[in-house]
Amino acid sequence: MTSKPVLLDRVRPAAEQPLLRPGVDRTSIGALVRKFYSRVRKDERLGPIFAGEIVGDWEPHLEKMTDFWCSVILKSGDYNGRPAPAHLKLKDVTEADFEIWLALFRETAAELFAPETAAVFVERAERIAASLKLAMFFRPGPAAAAGGA
Ligand code: HEM
Repeated sequence: MTSKPVLLDRVRPAAEQPLLRPGVDRTSIGALVRKFYSRVRKDERLGPIFAGEIVGDWEPHLEKMTDFWCSVILKSGDYNGRPAPAHLKLKDVTEADFEIWLALFRETAAELFAPETAAVFVERAERIAASLKLAMFFRPGPAAAAGGA
């Protein structure tokens, strides 16, 4: 039956499936992470924010972020932390900083992966960035505080 996979694709969103493509593995994801954070560290706005948090050895952060992206993209289960609390304590970060972060991520993904693959990384980064921004910056307005209406 040729219709079965189509049906499955519809009931289970593509974002929840591992991305099985040649050249997308822990090695290439590690390369993406390293190139991306070397850019972040040189960025005049993001560099100092990270430097204030990661003092000394960057290796544990790079390994953790490789675990994270392998979990997101390959569904490897390597990462079982919680990103939101790590960002909630960063009091100097603004919504505009996320645009810088995403621009550097898009640029790096486009350099290392085929366009269709880079698009998957970017779409997932954008989705996670949106949920981190909600956790960090969303404040219910006066109507919500007053109980709606
Ligand atoms: C302006 C945007 C962002 C800034 C300034 C930022 C900064 C940071 C910093 C300083 C840490 C802690 C590093 C450490 O001590 O190990 C961190 C951790 C982390 N970040 Fe971000 N981040 C940003 C956006 C994002 C986005 C968009 C994602 C995902 C797509 C992300 C995923 C993570 C993860 C998974 C961790 C590790 C959390 C843990 O388990 O400890 N970050 N980030």
